[in-house]
Amino acid sequence: MTNARQLADEAAAQLGDRLGKGFEAAVVLGTGWDDAVAELGDTEAQISTTDLAGFPASRVEGHGGTAAAVVAGDRRVLVFRGRVHLYEGNSAAAVTHGMRTAAAAGCGVAVLTNAAGGLRAHYRVGGPVLISDHVNLTGESPVAGTEWGTDRFVNLVDAYSPRLRALAADVDPEVPEGVYAGLRGPHFETPAEIEMLRLLGADLVGMSTVLEAIAARHCGLEVLGVSLVTNLAAGMTDEGPSHTEVLEAGAASGARVGRLLRGVIDRL
Ligand code: HPA
Repeated sequence: MTNARQLADEAAAQLGDRLGKGFEAAVVLGTGWDDAVAELGDTEAQISTTDLAGFPASRVEGHGGTAAAVVAGDRRVLVFRGRVHLYEGNSAAAVTHGMRTAAAAGCGVAVLTNAAGGLRAHYRVGGPVLISDHVNLTGESPVAGTEWGTDRFVNLVDAYSPRLRALAADVDPEVPEGVYAGLRGPHFETPAEIEMLRLLGADLVGMSTVLEAIAARHCGLEVLGVSLVTNLAAGMTDEGPSHTEVLEAGAASGARVGRLLRGVIDRL
C-alpha cells in the first residue's frame, strides 16, 4: 500500500510555503491549453512541479510542468500547467498525485482540461466539449494499492459534476457535452479502434483525464472535465491526427476556452 496521503500532504506543505495557502480550485491545463491561463487570471507566483515531492519530470512538448497560484477575481486557483501521463511510463499513482496534492492543499474543485480527438462530425475543431462521463480504457486504477482514508470502492456516478457542467453551460450555452474515452497512448488510434469506441458510446478520445477524475473523486473533489477538440479522430479525415495539429488547435483556441474556465471559477 502506498500512503498517497502522506506524499500529497508533503507536496501540499511545500506548495503552501512557495505559493501561499487558500486555494479553492485546481485547474489542470492539458496539451495546447497553456494560453488559457492568461484569461483565467493573474499569475501571482509559479514553481516547477519537480520542486514538489512526488512529481516526476514531464517531457512532452506543450507541457510546462509548473504549478502556479492564479488569482481569478476573489478566488485563488492552483493551476497545473502540463500533466503527468501514463504514456511517459509513469504509474497511475504518479499520474494522479497532482489531484491528491490539490485535495491536500484544500481545493474543493478540480477542473481537468485536455486535448481530444472528436468522434462526432458535428464537433467543431478548436471548440470545447464538456465531459459528461468517461470510459476508462487504460487498464489502470489510481485507487488500487492506494491508501487515502476514504472508501476505496469509489462511486463514479456523476463523476463529472452536473452542478459544474450547468455552471459551464451558463457561461457558454453552445458548448456540447460528450463521453470521453481515455486510452494509454501515446500512439493515436487506428480507424478500426475509433469505430469500436463509437460503438462503446464514446464521443471523444484522448490519453489523459480518466485516472485523475477517479482519483479526484476518491479524494472528494468535485470534477469538471473539458476537452478541446483538436482534431477529428482517426479515419474521419484523409490525413489522420498529428501532435503538431493538436498543438496548433490548442494555441488558436486558448483565449476562448480560457474565458470559459474563468466564467466557471467566477460562478463557483
Ligand atoms: N486521439 C487520442 N488522443 C488525442 C487525439 C486523438 O485523436 N487528439 C488529441 N489527443
